[in-house]
Amino acid sequence: MSSIDVPLRGSQFGRTSRRDLWWVQPLLTFLGLSLFIVYATWAAFQGDHYRAGPYLSPFYSPELFGSPEDAWFGAWPRWLSFLPASGALLILWAPGGFRLTCYYYRGAYYKAFWADPPSCTVGEPRKTYRGERSFPLILQNIHRFFLYVALIFIVILAFDAWHALWFADPATGQTHFGIGIGTLVLFANAVLLACYTLGCHSLRHLVGGRLDEISKSPLRSKAYECAGCLNRRHMLFAWMSLFSVMFADLYVRLCSMGTWSDWRIL
Ligand code: FES
Repeated sequence: MSSIDVPLRGSQFGRTSRRDLWWVQPLLTFLGLSLFIVYATWAAFQGDHYRAGPYLSPFYSPELFGSPEDAWFGAWPRWLSFLPASGALLILWAPGGFRLTCYYYRGAYYKAFWADPPSCTVGEPRKTYRGERSFPLILQNIHRFFLYVALIFIVILAFDAWHALWFADPATGQTHFGIGIGTLVLFANAVLLACYTLGCHSLRHLVGGRLDEISKSPLRSKAYECAGCLNRRHMLFAWMSLFSVMFADLYVRLCSMGTWSDWRIL
């Protein structure tokens, strides 16, 4: 039996017959996810500079409480005074939970953060296999419920992108159609997040994967085909949408602070 057939465990951590740069991918995953977690946590606690003109940061959308003029339910209520006044803290559990339990990310951060195992045919630093059939990892099965919420968020972010087309005239207060760089940033973010969400393994199962004879239902067959097409690039869209949502927040934030000027195309 070759060394490739034998999983290395426990004290064999790090020992492998592999001579290639197997550690590069888990390292990049670790750095990419760490960067996002640090930035998102920092941005979520700021509680300001999340609006610039018609642009709303995706970290703060939907704005349930906050600005008395723009938030769905008005100013930050007194019964929430035990929390820092930041609308992001009320909503980020949904997209955060969706990503945390995503099938792709699970595979990625199991390798990158707790080396389980760090890569194929590379030993892991423990003797027992901790599968997803027992607590706490059995909670990962909640992913399909996060999916329903994530689909609602896609609609909301698409509306935000539409709203980013309407600029208020400072003199008259009237809104008129326009396109700025921020409009393109919010549109790109909504499209990438939709491609990521609609390629979800759970959605593919929901629309057709659970049927025995999907060919008998042409509509579901087509939906399954589309979800499968996006699913084949799920890793790509997972990373692109992760960085697009971070960049969209940064863009709105820096425009709001006056550090960046939004270029108007139309
Ligand atoms: Fe990745 Fe559902 S499997 S979003």
